[in-house]
Amino acid sequence: MPNIAVVGSINADLTVQVDRHPKPGETLLGAGGGVAPGGKGANQAVAAALRGADVHVVGAVGDDSYADPALALLKAAGVHLEEVETVPGSTGLAVITVAADGENSIVVVPGANASVDATFVQRHARTIREADVLLLQGEIPASGIEAAVALSQGRVIINLAPVVKVAPETLLHADPIMANEHEAGLILEQLGRTGDGSPEALARELLRAGFPSAVLTLGAKGALVADQSGLELVQSPRVKAVDTTGAGDAFAGAFCAAVLGGAGLREAAQESVRVAAFSVTGYGAQTSYPQPDQELPQ
Ligand code: RIB
Repeated sequence: MPNIAVVGSINADLTVQVDRHPKPGETLLGAGGGVAPGGKGANQAVAAALRGADVHVVGAVGDDSYADPALALLKAAGVHLEEVETVPGSTGLAVITVAADGENSIVVVPGANASVDATFVQRHARTIREADVLLLQGEIPASGIEAAVALSQGRVIINLAPVVKVAPETLLHADPIMANEHEAGLILEQLGRTGDGSPEALARELLRAGFPSAVLTLGAKGALVADQSGLELVQSPRVKAVDTTGAGDAFAGAFCAAVLGGAGLREAAQESVRVAAFSVTGYGAQTSYPQPDQELPQ
């Protein structure tokens, strides 16, 4: 069966809601404080599975009490977790502050995700080799990303969030490279190129750098899709955002599921902006993703 391998992070998200983000040195009162499943790898895996894709995760959790909540919605979405290892120590933890306008700030403590290096990835070589699409993010060690790309015999999609230093020959396998504007600039600088300008300029520069295709996520504006046939802005439906946490991951996971199903870049982006728009109308990352029977905004 055609499938996606996500080699990436699994976190427990500890989220608080505030009216506005605190300034340095300031103490604010907030609400919330609950633990929910997160991690860019896990979020993208759940989003892809909820769009009907067969998804395997290669990753790690700790032997602590955060592991179960971190895995709960991966299990519920039917993601294959045979390649998730439990390692000594803590599960990845993200401390997230969400302001009243829906914008978030996140600090991630990698925990078990730091063990997903080249040696770890080699133990799961078969799953990675057999995957039709390999989906990666920047929350595991660079050596793990490089080893996974070297093993892949399918299409590689990299959402380098956060931007970590990865060998250029690894990075340039990404088809597409997926990033927000800020990340796109950092990726270009990593490749020794100019990393500023409009989204269109960034997308053209990514193609000139050698990526076969690029997708820039532009938040409420949608996504800019670029390949040799040109650039196209795919607009997002307008919705009222309450929490943008994991919206980029909803986009990336839905995008991969659509590509796995045979969609072209533009068609995949059209579906994915709607999935991401749905996600910002609810709280949390995976907890806000549309279930298969839920209608997407137009
Ligand atoms: O992209 C959102 C995710 O970033 C959160 O779920 C958090 O775990 C961090 O990895």
